[in-house]
Amino acid sequence: MKEGVLFEITRDQLETGMRGFPIGYCTTSHVDPQKGLTYIGRPIADLCRWDPVDVIYLLYHGEPGRKEQVAEFRRNLNRRAFCSEDTIRHIRALPNRGPAMDLFAASLLIAGVYESTEDYREDCLNVIAKLPQIVATLINHHAGWGETPPPNPELGYMENFLHMLRLPTEKTEQLIEVLRIFNITHYDHGGGNLSTFVGKAVASALEPMYGSLAGALTALAGPRHGGANEDCLAFMQQLVKELKEGLSEENIAHWLRHRLERNQLIFGFGHAVLRVEDPRATLFYNYGLKEFPNHPLIRAAAILRKVGPKILSEQKKISNPFPNIDAITGPLLTAAGFPYPDYFPLLFGLSRCVGIAIQIVYERVEAREGKGTPIIRPDYFYKSREHKKS
Ligand code: MLT
Repeated sequence: MKEGVLFEITRDQLETGMRGFPIGYCTTSHVDPQKGLTYIGRPIADLCRWDPVDVIYLLYHGEPGRKEQVAEFRRNLNRRAFCSEDTIRHIRALPNRGPAMDLFAASLLIAGVYESTEDYREDCLNVIAKLPQIVATLINHHAGWGETPPPNPELGYMENFLHMLRLPTEKTEQLIEVLRIFNITHYDHGGGNLSTFVGKAVASALEPMYGSLAGALTALAGPRHGGANEDCLAFMQQLVKELKEGLSEENIAHWLRHRLERNQLIFGFGHAVLRVEDPRATLFYNYGLKEFPNHPLIRAAAILRKVGPKILSEQKKISNPFPNIDAITGPLLTAAGFPYPDYFPLLFGLSRCVGIAIQIVYERVEAREGKGTPIIRPDYFYKSREHKKS
């Protein structure tokens, strides 16, 4: 390649989802195909037991905070944690049926009307602080679980979310632990995951933070992105239901091969970037096998993890036969006491908005010596539709 050229594009790379095309810088996280996710250079496995606010501080400031710095940051977030009555009233006036992720996007648009300062930095912190109340209010309303109590700033980030969520099931220690790890591991996944890319693209037209995040959430809602954990759980449940003869390696391998023969989808494997088992999934497998080894969904997920890659690598078309994060988050959330797959994508969104908001701040007010990146405007080659007529 010529000096200064970073990447060459060939014709056969067009219409392939821009896979691997470099388009900018990401100052928060990186996804290495072999090593997986790092936040500010630190492997996700080293961070997943931190307090969520420590991790948010790390992503926001680009370095870990000392104890007093994080304490001040926490107080700052706590002061911003309460939405106005108007925001809450209008979220509660949304329909209580239909796709919950669409209503999440609508809730952020509503929040934008009443909460926006039109300053990306301020709105980044505001939205991170207010998201637990927005999401808990929306889920309680959509699920018919009743009125949402006000935020309790004495509690931790996810403890406060769970305090506001009026779950009809028991809020066990394990559930809070799983939600904390889920929240931390989903904050960010490099600069090019679809929801983050879309959020930054919308913000590149100078749409304020809340509207940009609403756009990002509609991208996250799709079954190829944040909606995948819901579909993956349905797939696991079908497997457990149909395998009446038992969850053995042999039976699961047979069931998988049978689906492949009938060209039916296999969920929970493969990733656009990763070429190994997603290290985030590894954390959840370890937790599930330690805490819920006999839960049928965890047993099924563990066996699939073992036999799936072998069977899928026999298929010529599959370049990455390894489990992704969705292969285990649904079974684990269910085993831990959150058996509500409709809301899994909302938990993903609650978390991912943190990384997207911080990346938007970089692109809008820090990149290019503070000028910010220009409006996103890629090129498409003109192609005649003549071929369709023949
Ligand atoms: C994510 O966490 O965003 C997903 O793994 C998708 C991606 O990285 O493209």
